[in-house]
Amino acid sequence: MNAADSNSSRPPADLAGLDLVSHSSLHTERLGERLATHAEAGDVIALWGELGTGKTVLARGVAIGLGIDEDAVTSPTFIILREHFGGRLPFYHLDLYRLEQSQLGSTGWEEALDSGGLTVIEWPDRAGDLLPADRVDVRLEHVAETKRRVTVEPTGPRSRRLVEALRADAFGERQ
Ligand SMILES: Nc1ncnc2c1ncn2[C@@H]1O[C@H](COP(=O)(O)OP(=O)(O)OP(=O)(O)O)[C@@H](O)[C@H]1O
Ligand SMILES: [Mg+2]
Repeated sequence: MNAADSNSSRPPADLAGLDLVSHSSLHTERLGERLATHAEAGDVIALWGELGTGKTVLARGVAIGLGIDEDAVTSPTFIILREHFGGRLPFYHLDLYRLEQSQLGSTGWEEALDSGGLTVIEWPDRAGDLLPADRVDVRLEHVAETKRRVTVEPTGPRSRRLVEALRADAFGERQ
């Protein structure tokens, strides 16, 4: 199978989004930081990727970018929604790993989405149809111990604005 075949299940990220390689957790954190810098109230970022690919690292970068203490951002074990205030925007960090879709209503999920903050969702597949239609999809793939492929794609006009702002940023430029 060649590279084109292996990617045929989804459109090439560079049509609308970014296709990046992160060489360290700091690199991934910086991407989160830049997303946060350009985010507007109500934006949603979904972080797709297997265990240990760097979703929480990226979420920590988002906190830094909003001016929130990054030490507060951890991989929640039983806490599904963490709210962080005191930054440029309220930051809602959801980790749906342990969630059944039927439980979503009791997590504060809808309030978070409606409250005009920036929402970052780990394990967004757990939300099924409830996932907001217009969101930035960030996909993290393990390539090597400290190397991740990271694609960033918008799914609607709101998220397109954020991805375009990111693209205009130095990190987002394709080398
Ligand atoms: N380029 C990289 N980007 C992000 N993390 C990296 C990178 N290289 C190594 N790492 C390491 O990979 C780990 C990623 O852990 P993290 O908790 O962010 O994963 P996760 O995707 O949130 O996992 P989980 O699904 O369990 O929540 C960290 O230990 C981090 O230091
Ligand atoms: Mg995590």
